[in-house]
Amino acid sequence: MQSHNTILVLDFGSQYTQLIARKIREQNVRSIIYPFYTSLKKIKELKPKGIILSGGPTSAYEENSPQIDSEIFQLNIPILGICYGMQLITLNYKGKVEPAKNREYGKASIEIITNNEILKNVKNKSVVWMSHGDYITKIPEGFSVDSKTENSPICSISNSEKKIYALQFHPEVAHTENGKEILRNFLFDICKCKPDWTPANFIDEAVDSIREKVKDAKVLCALSGGVDSSVAALLLHKAIGENLTCVHVDNGLMRKNESIKVVEMFEENFDLKIIHIDASQEFLHKLSGVSDPEKKRKIIGNTFIEVFEKESDKIPNTDFLVQGTLYPDVIESASTGTASHKIKTHHNVGGLPEIMNLKLIEPFRELFKDEVREIGELLGLPHEFVHRHPFPGPGLAVRVLGEITEAKLSILKEVDKIFIDELKKFDLYYKIWQAFAVLLPVQSVGVMGDARTYESVVVLRAVTSSDGMTADWYKFDNDFLEHVSNKIIREVAGVNRVVYDISSKPPSTIEWE
Ligand code: XMP
Repeated sequence: MQSHNTILVLDFGSQYTQLIARKIREQNVRSIIYPFYTSLKKIKELKPKGIILSGGPTSAYEENSPQIDSEIFQLNIPILGICYGMQLITLNYKGKVEPAKNREYGKASIEIITNNEILKNVKNKSVVWMSHGDYITKIPEGFSVDSKTENSPICSISNSEKKIYALQFHPEVAHTENGKEILRNFLFDICKCKPDWTPANFIDEAVDSIREKVKDAKVLCALSGGVDSSVAALLLHKAIGENLTCVHVDNGLMRKNESIKVVEMFEENFDLKIIHIDASQEFLHKLSGVSDPEKKRKIIGNTFIEVFEKESDKIPNTDFLVQGTLYPDVIESASTGTASHKIKTHHNVGGLPEIMNLKLIEPFRELFKDEVREIGELLGLPHEFVHRHPFPGPGLAVRVLGEITEAKLSILKEVDKIFIDELKKFDLYYKIWQAFAVLLPVQSVGVMGDARTYESVVVLRAVTSSDGMTADWYKFDNDFLEHVSNKIIREVAGVNRVVYDISSKPPSTIEWE
């Protein structure tokens, strides 16, 4: 079912474009993202109820900066320009944009001049989030200035008659106090959208487009058992049934008994074809003697490809590979472009498809984790699986710091199990985005009974987050930390010290490697 309440976001390269689309979906309105150079013909075909021009890293007056067909302003479709989008609107209506003496980043307080339809319910002096290096120095023709801040005398402008609005700040980010109100004003009062978009619509649309793309071909799914690959497998299964084969590779780097639990759950609850491969010895052998984190990731990625390829050779006529890539994986792995730098290699984004000559299906590429969880719930994935903490592709390999051995892995698995079990017992597990233990490559002195010990140190890490891109450490009660620490040291041979990680992301990352 196609919703007729669609907002088109034209992307000029802002790091916030996906966030705009997501904030619209949160209001139960369908949003689609297209590149800025999308033709006018295509835009008309899409029949959007409103168009948002995103921000972008360049300045609209620069040569070769991304532009749009000015006829877009004649379509009689309401338009909201954000940051760079505001500059385009300004230039189109004979206003002027110039570089600012001081770039403006961060919080500012908005002073409302005209409380019109786009600023309805926005509190005077509320916080807005700025991120720009240009100013409008001449108001475009036919527009009025609706608000200002201390450093931006022209903070938002509008032409109510033409239904064109522009903001210098970002309404989509959480720091803009009344950003949600602004988007609601645009969606419901100005574009007259109805809030009829739900995750169930997403499933229907995705099923249709997967069927159209795949037809009768066979599709492979690398099923790790994490939320993303599990939900992707179920979605594909709904779309193409028998033509999907899932391959679950036990790399020996998963949590204690995890691999068996995953396969059992799918076999018991769903009619999926699953091939279960135990390749743990192969992985451990290749990793022996390696301690550099990026090397470990590469070895794991490559070994995974080899194992997966060998197995999939047995399934003829395969054309597609499905991956549960999420939007944050896409940007954290991007190595080009102005908006994002490579932070770590996330192995689920590259490798396999090129080597195996497979086409990729990535149904969640524009979604965030909590949206995928909602979809998983609707597809019948058990609660425990839907709401499990994220787990990195390279698994415990990036949590045994330095060289990996079977003995170290076994210590970490025991510690990790105690930590996770106690979180569940104390009703803390679901309050936390991600929790795990890390085994440090250092030994420390302790005393047990009358004897001196010289054993391993483990770190406990627990963070809250909404998408893994930023995170804060979880504030446990001291009693809980004491209880877990005692239990670990008492029950896991080889560990005599437990520490708790109190760093947030940024500047740290969630994982230690
Ligand atoms: P960092 O450590 O970069 O992690 O703050 C952000 C989120 O991504 C997960 N992560 C990975 N996931 N392959 C994955 O599939 C990887 O190589 C990888 N590295 C980190 C991490 O657990 C957290 O949820």
